[in-house]
Formats: sequence, structure tokens, C-alpha cells
Amino acid sequence: MSCCQCQGFESMFDRKKAAKELKKYRKEGPIKTTRTLIDALKAEGVSEMTLLDIGGGVGAIQHELLNSGVSKCINAEAAQAYIETAKEESKRQNHADSITHFHGNFVDEATDIPQCDIVTLDRVICCYHDLEVLVELSSEHARRLYGLVYPRDTWWVKFGTALGNLYRRVQRNPFRTFVHPTEVVESILRGKGFEQQFYLDVGIWQVVVYGRPHQ
Ligand SMILES: C[S@@+](CC[C@H](N)C(=O)[O-])C[C@H]1O[C@@H](n2cnc3c(N)ncnc32)[C@H](O)[C@@H]1O
Repeated sequence: MSCCQCQGFESMFDRKKAAKELKKYRKEGPIKTTRTLIDALKAEGVSEMTLLDIGGGVGAIQHELLNSGVSKCINAEAAQAYIETAKEESKRQNHADSITHFHGNFVDEATDIPQCDIVTLDRVICCYHDLEVLVELSSEHARRLYGLVYPRDTWWVKFGTALGNLYRRVQRNPFRTFVHPTEVVESILRGKGFEQQFYLDVGIWQVVVYGRPHQ
């Protein structure tokens, strides 16, 4: 993968982390923020829609929405360990035929990935340095709904993030997290014709669903 940040994905999101998250998901289901996003999308109506889940992790959103009527999913994921783990779980849930996996940085792969009705980025924007490009390209892939979980841009979330990044710098870990400005995200999405349909603060996170009027 081309960018410096992307090179950190493989070490940050490795087999050990993926296995731990899969075990937790199997035991407890999606975490609170993911569950909130799933419920908000379901409230908009997802039957027969297609889903592009960028940075899908172990695949929680894909499985829950396939169980709720979504017809097909694409998982565009930068970490190989998460792709392997997501494939394993999709076989266990009998969803293997309904999910296509793309390994790589979505920004690099975007032209090869088809548009879908729904696009989700659950705790993904905070892993990527170039907010504008990621939000522009991903929102262009969404025909109807665009769902996000990303950090609130408050001073205390920025302070905690700076401490985390300092720790990683000392550890010589190239991975960084980002608290991007909410107003930039909103302005890009408004410019692409989306309107906010749902919003909830959950601790350090904001869970948001945007909708594009029927075309
Ligand atoms: C914190 S994890 C979240 C995983 C999952 N969405 C969840 O909430 O459990 C962030 C994931 O996004 C992926 N990711 C970040 N930026 C990406 C990009 N530009 N293209 C594809 N995947 C990306 C990472 O590889 C990682 O698996």
C-alpha cells in the first residue's frame, strides 16, 4: 500500500487483534456504537439494498445487515488479518456467497469498487490521514445511505488522541489516529447531496447516518 499510514494497518490490525475482536463479537454481538449504527440504518429501511463496508473489521455490520434483508455486501479492508478473519466468520454465518472482499486502501481501490446503496465507515475515518479524499470517494459510492462512527472533535478527545499518538511515536509504531473536524465531514456530505437522518453521541464517538433523497 502506498501511504505511510496504510503501512501501519497490517501491524496495528494483526491476527491477534482480529481473533480477539472476533471472539468478543461471537460472544456479545456488535459493540454499542456499531449496534447503534446498525439500528439507525435499519430504521431507514435496508431491505434488498447493497452494502459497501469500508474497513469492515471482522464483519459485524455486514452480518447484521445481511440478516436484516441486505442482498449483497462488499468489504473493502486494508488489513489482511481482518480480511482472513472476516472470511472465516462469513463461512460460519453462511454469508460467504453474499460478501466480496477487497484487500487494500479503499482510496487506491475506489475505481474498481462498485457503488452500493449503503456505505459504512465504522471507526475508520479516525485511522486515515486524508479525510477529504476518503469521505469524498466513499460518499460518491453511496446511492442512498452513508453511515459513520467517528470521534467527536472535542478538546478532551483530541487530548487523549495526542497522548495515544505520542505513546506510539515513542514505541516507533508508525500508526496514528486522527480527530478530524466534524464540520469538514458535514460540508463534504452536504455538497454530495446528503442530509443528516440520525445523530447520537456515544462517549468519545459520534454515530451519524446521512441519506440521499431518492433519485
Ligand atoms: C478501528 S478498526 C474498525 C473495524 C470495524 N469497522 C469495527 O468498527 O469494528 C479500523 C479498520 O479500518 C481499516 N481501514 C482504515 N482505513 C482504511 C482505508 N483507507 N481503506 C480500507 N480500510 C481501512 C483498518 O484496516 C481497520 O481494519
